[in-house]
Amino acid sequence: MANVDWLTLKVAKITTEAEDIKSFELIDPSGGDLPAFEAGAHVDVNAPGGIPRQYSLSNDPAEANRYVIGVLREPAGRGGSAAMHDKVSEGDTLEITSPINNFPLSSVAEKHLLIAGGIGITPMLAMARYLERTGASWEMHYCTRTAEKTAFRDLLSAPPFADKVTFHHDGGDPAKGVDLKALLGRHEDGVHVYCCGPGGLMNAVQANTEHWPAGTAHFEFFSVDGDTGPRDDDESFEVEVASTGKVYVIPADKSIIDVLNDDGLNIPFMCSEGICGTCITDVLEGEPDHRDMVLDDDEKESGELITVCCSRAKSKRLKLDI
Ligand code: FES
Repeated sequence: MANVDWLTLKVAKITTEAEDIKSFELIDPSGGDLPAFEAGAHVDVNAPGGIPRQYSLSNDPAEANRYVIGVLREPAGRGGSAAMHDKVSEGDTLEITSPINNFPLSSVAEKHLLIAGGIGITPMLAMARYLERTGASWEMHYCTRTAEKTAFRDLLSAPPFADKVTFHHDGGDPAKGVDLKALLGRHEDGVHVYCCGPGGLMNAVQANTEHWPAGTAHFEFFSVDGDTGPRDDDESFEVEVASTGKVYVIPADKSIIDVLNDDGLNIPFMCSEGICGTCITDVLEGEPDHRDMVLDDDEKESGELITVCCSRAKSKRLKLDI
C-alpha cells in the first residue's frame, strides 16, 4: 500500500485559462524544491471544506520549485472544484499529497500519441512539455467543445507545440470531433496512445484501440464513469489479514477497507473510487473481482494486486498482505 505524504503549499498564482478553468501554481512557502514528479502524475488536493480531489500536474517535471494544476469548475461534482474556484486565493495555503503517477509515459514507445478531452489536457500538457524537451516523437489531438473552453490554447498554438497539436472543437456533438477510426484504425509499430478526458472520449478511444497490442494504450480516469461501486448482486466474502491471521467477513454493502479500518487497521486511502491507487494491496491467495480504473489489464489479470477501497472477491476468501 502506498503511504500518503501531505505537503502544505502556497498558492503563488491563479490564472484563468479558459471558460470555467483556472490554473493554480503551488510552491513551497519557504521557496524550497518540491518532491520530484514525472509527466502524467497527479496530486490529491484538500480543497476548502475538506473535499479531496485529484488534479494532474501540467507543468514540466524539470521544474523543481512548483506544481501547476488545472481545475475545471464542475457544477455536478462533489464541491471540490467549486471550492477551488470560489474559496482559494493567491497567498492561501493548500494541503496536497506528494505526486503519484498512475499514468506514466512508456519508456519503450517510439512515438507518443496524446488524446486529450477538456480538462484532461492537464497531464497531457506535462507530457508534451517533457517529450518536446527530450526530443521524443509525439503528437497531440485536443478535443473540446469550443475555442473558449480550450485551456492553454494560446500556449499550444505557438512554437514549439503548434505543429504537433491538432485542435478538435465538436460543439457538443462527438460525431463532429476527432475521427478516432482514422487516427487509431491501424496500429504502427512502436506507437503508444494516451488518453485523458470525459468518459465518452475514453470509452471511444478504448473501443478503437482494442486491436492494439497489449500495453500500448494508456488511460487516466479522474471521475468514475465506470462501474466501481457496489452492485445489486454483490455477495459477502471473507478476507484474511496475513499478518494476524484474523478473518473478516465483508458484507455485500461494505468495502474491504471499511471493514478493516473499522477494526483499526488504518489502511491508507484517498479516492475510495478505484482511481488513485493509494490502497493497492498485494493478494496472497484468492481471486479478486476488480472494480477499479487504476490497475492495468496485466495487473488485473495477474490477480496479485487489489484496490481494497472498491474491489471485491470472486473466490470465497482473499488472503491479503496486510
Ligand atoms: S483509495 Fe483510491 S484506489 Fe483505493
